[in-house]
Amino acid sequence: MNRLTDKVALVTGAGRGIGAAIARAFAAEGAAVVLAELDIATAQATAREIAGAIGNAKVLAVQTDVTQSASVQAAVSEAQKAFGPVDVLVNNAGINVFADPLTMTDDDWRRCFAVDLDGVWNGCRAVLPGMIERRAGSIVNIASTHAFQIIPGCFPYPVAKHGVIGLTRALGIEYAPKNVRVNAIAPGYIETQLTHDWWNAQPDPEAARRATLELPPMKRIGKPEEVAMTAVFLASDEAPFINASCITIDGGRTALHHE
Ligand SMILES: NC(=O)c1ccc[n+]([C@@H]2O[C@H](COP(=O)([O-])OP(=O)(O)OC[C@H]3O[C@@H](n4cnc5c(N)ncnc54)[C@H](O)[C@@H]3O)[C@@H](O)[C@H]2O)c1
Repeated sequence: MNRLTDKVALVTGAGRGIGAAIARAFAAEGAAVVLAELDIATAQATAREIAGAIGNAKVLAVQTDVTQSASVQAAVSEAQKAFGPVDVLVNNAGINVFADPLTMTDDDWRRCFAVDLDGVWNGCRAVLPGMIERRAGSIVNIASTHAFQIIPGCFPYPVAKHGVIGLTRALGIEYAPKNVRVNAIAPGYIETQLTHDWWNAQPDPEAARRATLELPPMKRIGKPEEVAMTAVFLASDEAPFINASCITIDGGRTALHHE
């Protein structure tokens, strides 16, 4: 229960879903956690819940828009003021933008890249100078199995997620000599509000849900806590030589040969 003791972590999009699960797991492992979230009400509710569940939890909710570099910089400054320099950054905030390439609006394209790729870069840029100076730090970017495989009709989300892997590898290599590790996690289907929203947008939501559960070899989808366990590992001192890498969490689905 103390794998992240004395570490300060900032998790973007931590009000709900995978980000909230990561914030809970980090606090349970002894980290001071800043929930940097656009929807401040959900972040405050999650922060209260963590504080209620874990005695002496150090937790703070800060309204943050990852698409704005100044907003992310401000969140990092708040974290430093409250708990000290940020040791761990999880770039988790993300949105689904699924459209037909040729009928998609320019606004859809920009919205997708602003959150899913610029947001990750804004986070990295805000913490890297401090991490480089201290010659220590771990950045974990939440990508997706869409970073490796294309599902028709999901454009341009996979383009942005491919970019997240490129950014992870490029920054991991750039700052390896400074002992800053940059890694990614590629989740497959994980049961969060985002997934429910997608099911509910289908003509037959229940059939869409059942079809999703049939896809993975394990015949289920993942839980946010299962992504959080890997984020704890990558953030911790248990992964000192894992860098510029990506761990897939999909129950084996991307390894499955499709007939
Ligand atoms: N759920 C899945 O099946 C799945 C699979 C693969 C990858 N992912 C990725 O995991 C991450 C989290 O997904 P989730 O399912 O928990 O989503 P979610 O929608 O449940 O949570 C995302 C959170 O990010 C916040 N957010 C959105 N825009 C933001 C912004 N501009 N600034 C700050 N916060 C913002 C939202 O308010 C929300 O609280 C995303 O990057 C997503 O692409 C999810």
